[in-house]
Parts: sequence; structure tokens; C-alpha cells
Amino acid sequence: MDHLSRRTVMAAAAGLGLTGLAGTTHGRSSPRTKHPGPEHDGDAHRGMCVVASVNGLPAVRRARELMATGTDPLDAIVDGVAIIEDDPEDTSVGLGGLPNQDGIVELDASVMYGPTHKSGAVASLRSIKNPARVALLVCRRTDHCLLVGEGALRFARQMGFKEQDLLTEASRRAWQQWRENMSKEDDWLNDDERDEPVGKVLEQPGQPATPGQRARHHDDPGFTTGTVHVSGVTAAGDVASCTSTSGLSWKIPGRVGDSPIIGAGNYCDNAVGAAGCTGRGEAAIVNLSAHTIVSFMEHGMSPSAACLEAMKRVADRTKEKRLRDGKGRPNFDLKMYAVRKDGAWGGASMYAGASMAVADGAGARAVKIPSLFDHPLG
Ligand code: GLY
Repeated sequence: MDHLSRRTVMAAAAGLGLTGLAGTTHGRSSPRTKHPGPEHDGDAHRGMCVVASVNGLPAVRRARELMATGTDPLDAIVDGVAIIEDDPEDTSVGLGGLPNQDGIVELDASVMYGPTHKSGAVASLRSIKNPARVALLVCRRTDHCLLVGEGALRFARQMGFKEQDLLTEASRRAWQQWRENMSKEDDWLNDDERDEPVGKVLEQPGQPATPGQRARHHDDPGFTTGTVHVSGVTAAGDVASCTSTSGLSWKIPGRVGDSPIIGAGNYCDNAVGAAGCTGRGEAAIVNLSAHTIVSFMEHGMSPSAACLEAMKRVADRTKEKRLRDGKGRPNFDLKMYAVRKDGAWGGASMYAGASMAVADGAGARAVKIPSLFDHPLG
């Protein structure tokens, strides 16, 4: 009996369910954690599969096809993630990702490989559209886990990556609009100070909502957090994972989110499974959410239950007033995704209405995920 199954049986025998490992709510609005149980599709699945944030649908399709023909799971996943990084319409990742407050795109990405328990990551990387491919080479070609900023760019150059302007016309206009609306005191006219009609430059027809991203319109050019996370398991039970992002839009230059932080936005353990997060990175960092999910699975929870319980932990520990709504709930969204070594998979969001992508024995598709709170954010 391997590590996971022994633990699973022990936990089941001890009657450890969701409530057995639940945190406290510290007297605030207590979410009713709904245990999706074995009726949730993914928890009952066994065998090879790839899961992702919902914007990663093309990535899971591609990664699973490659894995089915024997491609290494990390190569397959990074190849899938590159589709999203190359897509100028996804404003949360790679080319076309929303820039920092100076109008410069800074990308974060990490990979982790179960069979060697090794990771690689880059943070605040400029001018290279495929940070996950650079992270893969940090993992494979260096003794390090994380390269940042200028050092990450120099490494990418050495590895032969081409530099390019990552701003698209749409992301540049979105940034410009945010800048104009930042302050009434500056010399830029805010939307409500202009006589001519204001275009809805942040809405791009046909663009799917990205995880963690709030609905945007012209008078709400606030911060957005989108990302792509992809995790997979082979038929032999080897796991790998990758997270890639342009991070929080309009961020302070140099800000690093959870995506390149192993244990926060991405983690895998070949004895257990893999997990990752999208949405507010600061919350995933201070709660080490990806590692927490894997740890909950190690102690017997299904992937869906582990994600929901990790989400509850985030809600419980959101203590700053500025981050809570009138009922004490987090005023931000976060989504979590997990795959277990045996092929069970699941996800969870803070607020209702979210989906994830999966490619398993039943094909590649988007599926609804359970939420900690019953209604949509807002
Ligand atoms: N989760 C992406 C970020 O916060 O940077």
C-alpha cells in the first residue's frame, strides 16, 4: 500500500471527514462548507487526467493528448500552458497580460515535477511571453527554484528565448484608462469628466472570463487577478503542475503573486497529488494554499473537499477589515484546483458560479465547481 492509500484508509478509519480537519471561523460569518462527497464527478474519477483553471481548457486538451502518447507530464502541461500564454485575448497570462502601474508587463510562473520533487520558477519576468517554459528550464537546468527580474531575463536570453513587447493594443488602452481614472487631482481627465462618450475598452467580445477576474467595465478599471493553473497525473500516477500569470493588473512594479511561489499558487507531491490556485495571490501566499490542499488530500480528503477546506481556511484567516464585506466574508475571489495521484480531481471557489477545465476519460470540458459561499461575489 503506498503512502496515499495508507493515509486514506487511516483517515477513513478514524472517521476524519471534512469537519474533522476544519478550522474555526473566529466568530465571523461562518460559511456552511458543503462536502461535495463522492457524488462530485471528479472525486470518483480514476486514471490519467489533467485539470486547470477554466481559461486552461485548450491547455488540458493539449496536455492530455500529449500525455496519452507518452510525453512527460510536465512537458505536456507546459506545452498546454503555452497556448494560453500565446493568446493575446487572455489578459491574465503571457502576451496581452495586463501590465503593472508603469504600463510594463511582468510575468510570474512556476512548474513542479512530482517524480523528482523539484520545482522551477520565474518572477517579475519582462519581455518573454512564455514564462512557464523559462520556469521549466530553471527546474531542469539549474540548482535553483526561483529567478527574478533582471536575473530571470538574463537566464531566458541565455536559453535562447526571444524578447518582445508583451503589451497589445487592448492591454495598453486598458492600462491608459486605469491611469486616467486613478485620481481626480492629476492632469488626466477621469471618465466622468470627459464630454465625449467613453468606450468600454476593457470588454473584449468573445473573451471568456478569466479566473479571479471581476466583471470589468469602463467605469470600474480596478485591479484584476487572472492566471492559468494546470495540474496532471499520468496513468502510472506521476504528477506535475504549472501556474503562469501576468499577476495583479496595475501592480506596484516588482510585486510577485502566488503563481511562482511553491506551496502558494502551485504544489505537487508524487505520493499524493497536485494543486494550484488562481485569484487573489496574496491570500494564497499567506495561507500556503496549494500545499494545504495537497496536505488535506494526504490526510484523506477528496480533491473537492480538500479545496473547499483550504478555501474555508482562507476565509477564516481573512482578518483585515479592508478585505472583508459587511458579513465578514472575504471581498475577493479565489479558486483552487486539485488532482490526486489516483486520478480523482476537483476544485472549489470562494463564491458561486465558477468552473474549471478538465480532460479525463470523458474528454475535455468545463465543469462547475462547488463554492464556499452560495452566491456570486458582488
Ligand atoms: N494569482 C495570481 C496573482 O495574484 O498574481
